[in-house]
Amino acid sequence: MSDAVHYRYRLDGKIAVLGSAGQLGREILARLDGDVTPWTRKDADLTDAESLSQVIHRLKPSIVINCAAYNFVDRAESEPQAAFAVNAFAPRTLADLARQMGFLLVHFSTDYVFGLDANRAIPYRESDAPGPISVYGTSKLAGEFFIRSMAPQHLVIRTCGLYGRWGSGGKGTNFVETMLRLAGEGKPIRVVNDQVLTPTAAADVADACLRMIQDGVRGLRHLTNSGQCSWYEFARAIFEIAAVTANLSPTDSASYGAAAPRPTYSVLVSEYKDTPKLRPWREALAAYLTERLR
Ligand SMILES: NC(=O)c1ccc[n+]([C@@H]2O[C@H](COP(=O)([O-])OP(=O)(O)OC[C@H]3O[C@@H](n4cnc5c(N)ncnc54)[C@H](OP(=O)(O)O)[C@@H]3O)[C@@H](O)[C@H]2O)c1
Repeated sequence: MSDAVHYRYRLDGKIAVLGSAGQLGREILARLDGDVTPWTRKDADLTDAESLSQVIHRLKPSIVINCAAYNFVDRAESEPQAAFAVNAFAPRTLADLARQMGFLLVHFSTDYVFGLDANRAIPYRESDAPGPISVYGTSKLAGEFFIRSMAPQHLVIRTCGLYGRWGSGGKGTNFVETMLRLAGEGKPIRVVNDQVLTPTAAADVADACLRMIQDGVRGLRHLTNSGQCSWYEFARAIFEIAAVTANLSPTDSASYGAAAPRPTYSVLVSEYKDTPKLRPWREALAAYLTERLR
């Protein structure tokens, strides 16, 4: 797969990237020039507040970009402490340090902070009241609130349905690659048709995020590719664009029986003019599929 990157960004001062081995962290690193320190779990474990504080005090960054997260949505239901440690209490530590040291804290959150309104059928804006329905969503919402209330300089970006060329750090793959692998194995593939989202290229989020930092955008922002589809429609588009034959059929969340409940509708839009408009999800998917074949 080509590692061509079209835009590069140079931000002033020292930049620390937490979760730098994850799919979004790697896309961000690939676009950053200048004094950049990439941290993985072994450099800075987010569950160890003392050592996290020490490494940040030692570096004295002007910007910390936190791409690390506990992303196991189903597993979080049975291990809420682990999810809250990374998604809520670590952001609180970072927010506290940002307040003491004056750095800009950039953090990522999720469409799964919504879902309580089961009848929702129009996109969520930043000013809509959140209402998570899973441990993961609740832990991410708590992290957001700690940062928004404690870090004077922050940019919290909620995104949705990420896929990137390096795959999710924890899961080792992404939805697109999983679908292609299952199709290659000739297995029947059942995908839920009653959860509507916006699949989003991690590359597009990384570009837009760095542009927003550069342009001085601060606060809470929704950032996804545009448009919407169900996970089933996403899978169908993957096979259509990749010209792959697959034994794909729709199912529903109740039959699928995942441990964590998910929103039936979690499409995000931004009510702010300073949020970059990202291309339609199908276009971003086509670009990803073309790139992976290079
Ligand atoms: N993936 C999605 O579909 C999606 C959707 C909406 C929002 N988001 C948000 O977008 C952001 C980036 O997600 P992603 O898909 O890039 O995630 P990812 O690929 O799973 O990367 C997360 C990274 O966090 C690291 N991490 C986990 N626990 C840690 C700890 N205790 N200390 C230090 N590092 C730790 C992981 O390291 P290890 O590999 O060592 O575990 C991994 O490199 C997250 O905030 C996520 O909540 C993601």
